[in-house]
Amino acid sequence: MTLRFLLPEDRAEVAELLTLSFGRLDEAILLERLRDAGDMRLELIWIEKRAIRGHIGFARLDAPAGWWALAPLCVHPRNRRRGIAAELIRHGLDQARQNRAKAVAVLGDPAYYRRFGFSAKAAENLSSPFPVAQTSLYPIRPGMAGVTADLTYPAAFFQA
Ligand SMILES: CC(C)(COP(=O)(O)OP(=O)(O)OC[C@H]1O[C@@H](n2cnc3c(N)ncnc32)[C@H](O)[C@@H]1OP(=O)(O)O)[C@@H](O)C(=O)NCCC(=O)NCCS
Repeated sequence: MTLRFLLPEDRAEVAELLTLSFGRLDEAILLERLRDAGDMRLELIWIEKRAIRGHIGFARLDAPAGWWALAPLCVHPRNRRRGIAAELIRHGLDQARQNRAKAVAVLGDPAYYRRFGFSAKAAENLSSPFPVAQTSLYPIRPGMAGVTADLTYPAAFFQA
């Protein structure tokens, strides 16, 4: 088992994994658009038996400056519930910290993301084009928790 940074030659296999994991093409297309726009900040993959079985991406937000969004995240259906997503999230957040991101926002079940240090309360004064009730924040810089701000996602999130 290996967890490592994505290389350009991994992209086609990650697109297949995303499509299989979500059961649709949307997330693979989103990722491609984010990369093309230069908006991806970090991608990590989980490899087992020479196959990519998990992927996590972090995109920059247009605003607030220095904030990242965790998206997308997937694990192959046959490899789930073994903590692979958890490993990817933990390593990704370490990297976000090392890369001096100020905070990381995530859209998803707050109960799942709480265990990694994300907080729905820390996100309660944010406004977002996506449901704030499904938004959690992982504050890195002091003063980020509870801050009043508009989350502005890159254009790729709104392309059909
Ligand atoms: C979500 C996903 C990445 C989790 O991968 P995983 O490697 O199985 O996750 P982990 O093993 O680290 O964690 C599994 C645990 O978290 C829970 N969990 C996982 N995803 C969850 C979610 N979105 N909401 C609530 N709970 C979740 C599971 O119930 C499980 O708990 P249990 O083992 O106590 O029952 C995987 O199921 C997947 O690829 N799903 C399809 C794509 C998707 O929904 N991605 C996330 C949104 S971008």
